[in-house]
Amino acid sequence: MRIVRPELGRRVSASVLGLVMLTALGAGSAYAEGGQEIFELNCAVCHGLDGTPVLPNAPHFAKGERLEKTDEELLVSLTDGLNVMPPWKSVLNEDQMKEVLIYVRSLAE
Ligand code: HEC
Repeated sequence: MRIVRPELGRRVSASVLGLVMLTALGAGSAYAEGGQEIFELNCAVCHGLDGTPVLPNAPHFAKGERLEKTDEELLVSLTDGLNVMPPWKSVLNEDQMKEVLIYVRSLAE
């Protein structure tokens, strides 16, 4: 996994944008299948492949951070974004967001 230092923030944004575009192109194809794949393509860049955050301030899913919230609350955050996290509504449909949330919950020990 790539270690991202704060001064590399610009590169992170660029790769996030790249991933978002990639996913948009692949929407409806094999790219969008399965919560794990969605997570690895769209979310791991900030949240880490195993739920240990790469981006400072991203919740630590492996430790269960934020996962005390309900699915409804987390879906709102995903749909509309939350501060630094971009909105996902133009990239993922509701079923995909639900699938990726199930995968996020599975990362907690
Ligand atoms: C650009 C970095 C970035 C990406 C990409 C990203 N997130 Fe986040 N995410 C964050 C940050 C930062 C927060 C904390 C926001 C805050 O509370 O200020 C967050 C918060 C969350 C939360 C908690 C929301 C809440 O209500 O507390 C969930 C769940 C989440 N992200 C899931 C995802 C999923 C699933 C994806 C992929 C579809 C994703 N994130 C992609 C940065 C990112």
